[in-house]
Amino acid sequence: MKKVLVATEKPFAKTAVDGIRSIIEAAGFTLVLLEKYTDTADFAHAVADADALIVRSDKVTADIIAAAGNLKIVVRAGAGYDNLDLTACSSKGIVAMNTPGQNSNAVAELALGMMVYMARNSFEPGTGSELKGKKLGIHAYGNVGRQVARIARGFGMEVLAFDPFITSEAMQQEGITPVKSVQDLYKKCTYVSLHIPATEETRKSIGQELLMSMPKGGTLINTARKEVIDEDGLLRAMMERNDLKYATDIAPDCASKLKNSVGSRYFGTAKKMGAETAEANVNAGLAAASQIVDFFTTGSTKFRVN
Ligand code: 3PG
Repeated sequence: MKKVLVATEKPFAKTAVDGIRSIIEAAGFTLVLLEKYTDTADFAHAVADADALIVRSDKVTADIIAAAGNLKIVVRAGAGYDNLDLTACSSKGIVAMNTPGQNSNAVAELALGMMVYMARNSFEPGTGSELKGKKLGIHAYGNVGRQVARIARGFGMEVLAFDPFITSEAMQQEGITPVKSVQDLYKKCTYVSLHIPATEETRKSIGQELLMSMPKGGTLINTARKEVIDEDGLLRAMMERNDLKYATDIAPDCASKLKNSVGSRYFGTAKKMGAETAEANVNAGLAAASQIVDFFTTGSTKFRVN
C-alpha cells in the first residue's frame, strides 16, 4: 500500500487535512501526518519509507531526499517551489510538482489588505489616503498578479503590469496597461505589488534604485519572497526618503532594524500568512492529493516542475 506523507511545519486547516485524507484513502493509499515539526530529523525519519510527499514551504533539501528511500513524487501544495531541491529530486528520478493558482486569491486579498493598511496609516488616528485613482504596478502578471489586478480594479485603481512572459494584448484584454520595463513600472506607480518567484535571476533584484524612482508616497507590497529584495538597498531607500513604505508577508532579515529606523512605514506579518485561509488550504491541499493519486493511477505528470 502506498504511503503519502503530509509534512507541514505550518499545518493545513483541519478541513483541508480531512479532504486530503479522503482522496488518499479512496485511492487505497495510507496518509501519514507530520505537523508542526521543529526538528528536520523528524521530517527525515518520517519520509524514509514514504512513496509520496506533500509539503507547503517546508524545505525539501538534498538531505531529506537522501533520507527518502521510496519517494517517487513530491508536491508543493502552493505556487513557489523554491523550497524544493529540484536537482536532488531529479537525480533520484523523483517527480516534483506544484499546484499553481490554488492559493492565489488568498494571497491577492492579503496584498490588497496591506495596501489599505498602509494607506490608512496602520489604522492609527489621522488622515490617510484612498486607493481609488492611484496607479498600481503588478510586478509579474501570473496567477496571483492577475487576482490582485482584478480586485484592485474594483477599488478603482489604475492597474499597470510588467511581465516579459505575457503579451501586451493579453493584459490589455483584461483592462491592464502593460509597461515595457521594470524601471518604468516603479517610476509610474505609487503602489507596486510583487509577484515574482525567487530564482537565481530575481534574487536581490529589487533595491535602492527602483524604490528611489517611485512617485511620492511609493508603497511596495511583498507577498512573494524575501529573497527578491536587496535588503541593504531597501534600508538605504527607506532612510533616504521618508515617504516610502514597505509592507511584507515575509519578514526581511533586517526587520528589526527597519522597524526601529522607519516605524510604521514598515509592516511585516508575524508569520507568512498569504495562503493561510481555509479556502486556500483546501484548494491547494486537495489539488496536491489528487495530483498524487493521478500520478500513481494514470501516470499523469501535469504540473511537473523538474
Ligand atoms: C506559495 O508559494 O504558494 C505561497 O508562498 C504560500 O506558502 P505557504 O503554503 O507556506 O503558506
